[in-house]
Amino acid sequence: MKVRRKKIRFDRIFIAIAILVLLVFLVKFCIKTVKNFIINNEAKSSDTISVGDITLDIWNSTIDYIKENKKNITINYHGDKVTIKASDIKNGMNIKLDGYNKTIDEPLFNNVDSYYIKNNDILNLSSKISISLPGYLRNHDIVDVYKVKNKKISLYKSAFEVVDGSVTFRVDKDTDYFITYINLKSIKASSVILDEGTTSKINMTFNPNNASDLSVKYEVEDPSIATVTGGKVTGLKAGKTVVKIISKANPDVEKEINITVNAVEKPEPTPEPTPTPEPTTNKTSKGYDIVQKDGLTYIDGILIVNKTYGLPSTYNPGGLTDEFQAAFDEMQEAAAEDGIDLFIVSGFRDYEYQAALYDKYVSFDGIEVADTYSARAGHSEHQTGYAADINSADESFEGTPEAIWLDENCYKYGFIVRYQKGKDSITGYIYEPWHLRYIGKEKAKMIYESGLTLEEYYGFDSKYED
Ligand code: DAL
Ligand code: ZN
Repeated sequence: MKVRRKKIRFDRIFIAIAILVLLVFLVKFCIKTVKNFIINNEAKSSDTISVGDITLDIWNSTIDYIKENKKNITINYHGDKVTIKASDIKNGMNIKLDGYNKTIDEPLFNNVDSYYIKNNDILNLSSKISISLPGYLRNHDIVDVYKVKNKKISLYKSAFEVVDGSVTFRVDKDTDYFITYINLKSIKASSVILDEGTTSKINMTFNPNNASDLSVKYEVEDPSIATVTGGKVTGLKAGKTVVKIISKANPDVEKEINITVNAVEKPEPTPEPTPTPEPTTNKTSKGYDIVQKDGLTYIDGILIVNKTYGLPSTYNPGGLTDEFQAAFDEMQEAAAEDGIDLFIVSGFRDYEYQAALYDKYVSFDGIEVADTYSARAGHSEHQTGYAADINSADESFEGTPEAIWLDENCYKYGFIVRYQKGKDSITGYIYEPWHLRYIGKEKAKMIYESGLTLEEYYGFDSKYED
């Protein structure tokens, strides 16, 4: 009897230990704790506060705004929710999240090297803000702007260019913004094997794929064997070579891949083809000549770029054209007299830049959605130097005094609002009240007065081949 009782007790102890170990495991690995973070009421301006390994600097007017609107600040951090109550936030402080070399466990912000949170100008009634960026951001670096509305973080606009150490964009009063600069850490790409005379896309992925600046350049070891532009390799003659893919923003990040070009059996020499007459001419459905020359398409003298008509990857006017800039300057002056402040937020974009931008949007939204608002490389009017986004590139621009002014007046200076409302299936893009295309005063007036899109007026399509 005695022996039997002892045995039972031993079993129970064993089970109890097992349950305890399981509980410890659960607490350690499964349960996310919620940290309550209280700012010390004695905090002074520019005090820093540590939340995990993120440091918060609290800036003045942000605090006023938070207090006036009784907003708590909630930050998701490594699965924990850090809440800062409005009542705990002290005047005389601003918010700047400086997560340099830190990561934040929010899918969009994995591998964020640094970011700034929240403009401190949202209280002044200016419709735009200019944010000074940390010194490590150089001119022409690319940053992303996120907005925080109802405690939800979403991408506001990708790829703003840093000019004179700051970026400028339009703001809504009830929305917070912050700017990220996400460093590219590495590039993955696979070797390419292709036949002489053919072109093949380099299979390339970026880590992180939401890095702010995904633009790359290519160095081909033996350019007589292959050339690379816009992420595509063209095999020139049989042989092997190496291509170095180098991040433009961070040249330390590079990837080498092998290129093998296979010989193709040459068919019996055929007689020299008779050269096709240049330029070739077809007609639009409204009877206008479609003139194609050197890979460019003109209708009524206008360089046409849409989903049907593209540009060669090498086409690069070097920036906004003088005609565009002169017309914009004239329009900007006239608008200012009406109390309207106009500025360019995105002007010329070369082929590689558009490729990186489009790829990034695809990584966020998928191809189908990205195609409704972003052009594929070689199909953006921004590559012509005759188009720019004015003041904003966000749907909140619709209906603002600036958007209305542009809609009613831009034609007087030679511009058209290229992607009109309700014409998605014709232009190929959603309404973009900010995207202006320069076509000259006479034609812009003609098209404005017709109420038609460029596609409708001249009778041509905007559809990708695939
Ligand atoms: N958002 C316009 C369509 C572009 O990407 O060019
Ligand atoms: Zn645009």
